[in-house]
Amino acid sequence: MKKLSLTFALLGLSISLEAQPSGFNYDEAKVPEYKLPDPLTTEDGKKVTSPKIWQDIRRPEIFSLFQKHVYGRSPKPSGKIHYQVFDDSLNTGNENYRRKQVEISLSGKKNGPKMDLLLYIPNKGTGPYPIFLTLNFRGNHSISKDPEVRITRSWVPNEKGIKNNKASEATRGMRSSRWDVSQITSRGYALGTIYCGDIEPDHRNGRVDGIRAQYPEAYTWSAIGAWAWGLSRGLDYLEKDKDIDASKAIVMGHSRLGKTALWAGASDTRFAITISNNSGCGGAALSRRRFGETVKRINTSFPHWFVDQYKTYNDNEDACPVDQHQLAALVAPRPLYIASAVQDRWADPRGEFLAAKHAAPVYELLGAGTFPTKDIPPVDKPVQGAIGYHIRSGKHDVTTFDWKAYLDFADKHFN
Ligand code: GCU
Repeated sequence: MKKLSLTFALLGLSISLEAQPSGFNYDEAKVPEYKLPDPLTTEDGKKVTSPKIWQDIRRPEIFSLFQKHVYGRSPKPSGKIHYQVFDDSLNTGNENYRRKQVEISLSGKKNGPKMDLLLYIPNKGTGPYPIFLTLNFRGNHSISKDPEVRITRSWVPNEKGIKNNKASEATRGMRSSRWDVSQITSRGYALGTIYCGDIEPDHRNGRVDGIRAQYPEAYTWSAIGAWAWGLSRGLDYLEKDKDIDASKAIVMGHSRLGKTALWAGASDTRFAITISNNSGCGGAALSRRRFGETVKRINTSFPHWFVDQYKTYNDNEDACPVDQHQLAALVAPRPLYIASAVQDRWADPRGEFLAAKHAAPVYELLGAGTFPTKDIPPVDKPVQGAIGYHIRSGKHDVTTFDWKAYLDFADKHFN
């Protein structure tokens, strides 16, 4: 997406706009009328009046609708865990944390496909530590300048300094601004990250080379489904790691990987907290609003992210039996955080906020707490209840501000 920042003054106020793809709606007045499917009414029209009806009937119903219509059905894991810690070192160039790198078998087979988990573990206090588990876009080596992080051996997109889809030193640390490892670890949290491309390369034919190729065709899943499944395999390992308190694992992701974090948090209830950063269409944003990126556009640009059935909702959002507030509701009663950015209109900040708002009745029914706001809060003022939300100034990104809000939210729920 080509981005261009324009700043202009209007009535003495300075407003910053980021140009977004044209031909899409960015005008709130043009959002069509829509009716959201009610998370608290069953498919046969009965009101969900108790936590038991939610747990036994409505939650499974919504979950299988998302499997069928959006992200697909992922296979059961083998139950076997093979891993090898190939690096464990204090030598990170930063006194706040040490580093561990682990090769984890995805299929449970010793010689099957593997992914690398990079861990930064606090030096402060004594473990086991709560952890943020995340996927990254460009390889573990891209999240920090630390020269000891293994360069991914998986497919990467060709970009500056990268040829033949092979990662190199050229991209070491290229995304370090998004990973505030110092802040995270100095507040007593570990950070774990895995390259999404170790699970499935992010391109239209990724299915052929990724983990999906290892499973029978009967499983109709998607790249997002595969990535979320990989996060769960990461958590399987963390349950064995004595440095980590896996009962306090927070799944967090940005953008396409924020969509993935939501599906992972919905699919695997071992994740104690779920965080979606600027996840937009197919993530937290309500599809029926058709604001910014639409279902048709995402299915055209990234057909591999979702199942084929999702394509039938191109220009036909109202026919989809679910909308994204119900994905948020699947995380209940566990804490959920959704974050937007002012200039990230492509991701529909208001639609992301409304997903949180319309998931809140489920949290209330379950006695899990509330979402303590009815309206979108002021810019840069996080609201944190059972559901947290903020709209940060600036663009589509992950910043120190976002990490601080997530750490505050985790502290609030864990302490
Ligand atoms: C594109 C895509 C979004 C996605 C984003 C990202 O902009 O249209 O849906 O969230 O890429 O992952 O960075």
